[in-house]
This record gives sequence, C-alpha cells and structure tokens, in this order.
Amino acid sequence: MKLIAEKVKPRQAVADTLALFAFEDAKTLAGGWAADRRLEKRYNDAARDEDFKGKEKSVLVIYPESAKPARRILVAGLGKAAAFDAEKLRRASAAIANRIKAIDGKDVTFGLPLDRRAAVPAREQAQAAVEGLLLAFYEYRKYKSKPNGSPSKLARVRLAITDDGDAAALKEGAERARIFAEATCLTRDLVNEPPSVCTPKYLATAAEEVAKGADSISIKVIDEKEAKKLGMGGLLGVSAGSTEPPRFVHLTYTSPEAASTVAVLGKGITFDSGGLCIKPADGMLNMKDDMSGAAAVIGVFKALRELKPRINVHGIFAASENMPGGSAYKTRDVLTAMNGKTMEIINTDAEGRLVLSDALSYASKLKPDCIVDLATLTGACVVALGPEVSGIFGTDQPLVDKLIGAGKSTGEKIWQLPLVDEYWDMIKSDVADMKNSGGRWGGSITAALFLKEFVGEGIPWAHIDIAGPALTESSQPYKPAGGTGVGVRTILRFLEAKAGPSD
Ligand code: BES
Ligand code: MN
Ligand code: ZN
Repeated sequence: MKLIAEKVKPRQAVADTLALFAFEDAKTLAGGWAADRRLEKRYNDAARDEDFKGKEKSVLVIYPESAKPARRILVAGLGKAAAFDAEKLRRASAAIANRIKAIDGKDVTFGLPLDRRAAVPAREQAQAAVEGLLLAFYEYRKYKSKPNGSPSKLARVRLAITDDGDAAALKEGAERARIFAEATCLTRDLVNEPPSVCTPKYLATAAEEVAKGADSISIKVIDEKEAKKLGMGGLLGVSAGSTEPPRFVHLTYTSPEAASTVAVLGKGITFDSGGLCIKPADGMLNMKDDMSGAAAVIGVFKALRELKPRINVHGIFAASENMPGGSAYKTRDVLTAMNGKTMEIINTDAEGRLVLSDALSYASKLKPDCIVDLATLTGACVVALGPEVSGIFGTDQPLVDKLIGAGKSTGEKIWQLPLVDEYWDMIKSDVADMKNSGGRWGGSITAALFLKEFVGEGIPWAHIDIAGPALTESSQPYKPAGGTGVGVRTILRFLEAKAGPSD
C-alpha cells in the first residue's frame, strides 16, 4: 500500500473515495474543506437528508452526480469539537476503513480536519488517521482454506493538503503510522497464531527474525540447558510439565546517541492450561493470548529498527507453556529464582509471576535506568478494570505517569492501581521467601508485590497488567476480534518521549 501526502486543489478529482470529517452539530465540513462551496453544499444537502449530525461512529456516504471531486465521499463524525483528540480521529478513520473494505475501495484521499488552531497538530492527525486505517484493515486469514472475500484491494492512501498546509508533517505522520501499525500487526499475528504452533521456540524465532539484518539490534536466545546454569528456577519450574522446551530471549537495541537505557519485559506463556491446578474450559479458552506481553516486546523491536530513537532498549521475555504433564511442578513445591529468592507454589496457575521473577532478576543485572513489564498476569485485573483498561503499578511515580501519558496519545487506557505494602502478609510463606498466590482479594496487587521482589535495588519499575485488553472477542473500531497488539504503540511512544526529539 502506497502512502502519499500532497497538495490537492479542492476541485481536483482526487480518488475513488474522498474521506472527510465533521464535528458534531458543526453544520459544516471540518478543516479547509468548507471553502469548496459546491462540496460544502453537497455535504449540507446530504447531511440534512440523512440526518447526519457528525456524531462519533457515524459515517455519511455521498455519491456526487458528477463524480467530482471523487466517485464517493465519506464523511466521518468526530463528535464534539471541544472533546477532539487523536483517538477520536483514529476511530473515525477506522469507521471509514470499514466502509472502504465493504465496497472494495482501491484508493482513498483523506481531507483531515486541519486548521492552524487545531487541538491535534498535523503530524499527529496524519499518524492517527493512517493508524486507524491500517489497524482496521488488519485481518488474520492464514487458516482460512477459502478466504471469504478477497484480501484488501486498497492500494493507495493520500493525505490532501488544501491551503498552506505542511506536507512534510503529514508525510512524517503517515510514515510513523505505518511503522507503528506494522509492529502492532506483527504482535497481533503472534497472539492469533494457534498455541500448538506458537510455542516458546516459535516466539524465539520470531524475535530472531526482527533482529535479522539490523545492525542496531542483537539477540541472545537462552535454551533450557543455559537457563539451568543461570539458575532460572521460575521458568524451569513452570515449563516442567510441558513437552515444549522453554526459551529466554534477550534482544538489545543500541543507539550511538543514547543517553539512557530502558528494559522492556514480557510474559511469554504460549499456553496457560493452569498446570496441575487446571483451569475450567471457559477460563482456558483464550489462554493462547498469555504470551501477549512477549509478543508486544517483539513488535516494539520491529519498529525500533526503523524509528531509531536515541535510547538503548533491552527487550526481554521468558517463554514457556504451563501444562499439567507427568513431570509438572506441584503445589507446595519450592522454586528458586535467578536472584536467589525462593517461592512456594500455592497455585500452579499463578505461573506468570514465576517466569517474570527470572526476567526481572536478569533485567536488573543489566542495570537499566528503568524496567517496564507487560503481562497478562491476573484475572483480578480484568474484574477490576474490565476488558479495555490495563492496570499499572510502579515504584516510581514519574515513570508511571509517563506510561499513562503515552497511553493517552495512543488511545490505550491505563489506570494506576496501588502497591499496598500491608498486603505483603498475604503472600508470606512459612517455608520459603514468599508464596505465589495470596488468594482472591486484591489478586492483581499481591501479584505486583510479588514481582517487586525481583526488581534490583533502586531501579525504577512499572508493571502493566494487560490481561483485559490483550485480546478482544468482539471487533472494536480498529481492533478486529483476536489479539489487539496492546502495549506496542504505547511503549514506542514512551521510548520516543524518553529519548527526546530526534533532530
Ligand atoms: N494468565 C492468567 C491471567 C489471565 C486471566 C489473563 C484472564 C487473561 C484473562 C494467569 O496466569 C492466571 O491464571 N492467574 C490466576 C492467578 C491466581 C491463580 C492467583 C488468576 O488470575 O486467576
Ligand atoms: Mn495462569
Ligand atoms: Zn497465565
């Protein structure tokens, strides 16, 4: 698909589809488009006939008799102007994408709601609109023997500028959108892959793939034998009941101009049956998504190759199945993590924190300036925040605030939950340093307190529980059913903000 940003004169025939926007109750097209009197009149007539008010999620379809400036015009509602932000545009653009998909459109020109006082600057608008489009066009059709409908025919996306707009800003935004969307879609592919295909080895190979041929990225894959040598008792304990060997993966992105180093960690359970404390069927149904944190790390590295931010990044994930085989770890077993701390097993289904104990210990040894982990860690977090909001915990408020802020600009909702020190009593063990389950109450808090034990002294750390948003069973504006790729765009934004401007 070709992405182009260029000046377009209002009456120029632009495309088979022209995509425009309107604010709620504005009675006029947004951006410079109202200046085209004939277009504006056509819009006003159609909006009146169809009762189109510019509300969010609504799309007005116009077929001008003269096929000028386009064969069809789609006008997407943005909602109230006062509440306008990048996410509103991303969603409106997704609504347009879904119309284009339905009519097999080949070519679309966006007339963005640009104006000099716009709350969202041109580059951000371009990025949001193209992200919404590309993410909405994502499809996972690998296992359809007869794909219903043909793959997308959309070959060209243009961003039009009417007056003295900044073509360079639009171009840059569109290009960034491509990088962000391709990274997110790689993560979605990995999550959507059936669990008997996407094994720990498969995840390690996917990581090798993003490192291949990139001078800025190196990779180290640690197998079972080496994990034993390194004392990764958490990872080895969890993987004991599976016939698939575990993998521990360490990607490194290096920038010659870096002033700081961030470690991004992911939980990589490629299937969580619960182990011997086996899950009921409905609770197990979507547990192929329990590697979404690791998949997000891989997606982030795919983008780093091209974005080249001035920062060093470690990408680390511990990959394993959690299965109830004959050699499985058992309740009341005691495991020793890489940092020497011991963990009594109360429930084999609280396996994420066990593999993360080694990932956090390993990352801490690298002495990064901060650690962020992404994990589908607890059902309790989904109970607390629902399916669309991630929970965040952290030892450093500025770090937490930066991540929540990055989420705001990408439309990924993150809500802070407290690390309640008093709850540490719930995971005290009589025989080991801690136990891996504190019971029902405050389940995501005790899980986070557990993780904190493996973070090196003085290293700012944040933990994002993505159990809810990692997978969606029903399609959302730019998220078709399945893996969502949550975390990828937010972590990229966060890394870029930490790296500072690139020129
Ligand atoms: N992978 C699950 C958490 C999960 C639940 C993710 C629902 C996505 C949707 C995790 O390994 C798990 O099983 N957690 C247990 C912990 C409990 C046994 C202490 C849970 O949340 O029930
Ligand atoms: Mn589990
Ligand atoms: Zn799990």
